[in-house]
Amino acid sequence: MNEVRILDKKFRELISEQAIRKRVDEIALQINRDLTGNEVIFVGILNGAFMFAADLFRKIKLTSRITFVKLASYQGISSSGAIKELIGWNEDLTDKNIVVVEDIVDTGATLERIVNELVIRNVAEVKIATMLLKPASYTRDIPIDYIGFEIPNKFVVGYGLDYNGYGRSLPSVYILVP
Ligand code: IMP
Repeated sequence: MNEVRILDKKFRELISEQAIRKRVDEIALQINRDLTGNEVIFVGILNGAFMFAADLFRKIKLTSRITFVKLASYQGISSSGAIKELIGWNEDLTDKNIVVVEDIVDTGATLERIVNELVIRNVAEVKIATMLLKPASYTRDIPIDYIGFEIPNKFVVGYGLDYNGYGRSLPSVYILVP
């Protein structure tokens, strides 16, 4: 399945399911190594990161917990810039080692907001894992510790990412065909 249609748009496969699986395994291995001996709380960013978070977390061998927060900035296919919702910070994160799990970092506005929230909560350490990064669009200087794939500055769907709510179940990542 190399092309899919979602609503009014056409997308073609950019990153295969096998490539994603291999990369998730590599990232999990790296996190298991880097954080050996630490108790870790994974913080998944809903909705998009649910699939990456689930795949990554099942490969984690550390003493760890997972929680999810929701913070959405997207309507349609261009970033509105305005962040609308922020819900679900109900764990005590004080002095905890955190791994933030993101689906995609575009401008980095969402990431910055999350990191600020974690700093306020006096966490011990924050690491960031994102499945996808758009380097041409990323304007913040928060270091990203684990990056699945760097992609062009174009709209993508699949592997948890949506176009107006659809396309999240696709096991590969698809890019918009203009
Ligand atoms: P940022 O705040 O600009 O970094 O955007 C991050 C959020 O925007 C992600 O968590 C996604 O929800 C959404 N997003 C950014 N780029 C895409 C894309 O290409 N497809 C689908 N959602 C995207």
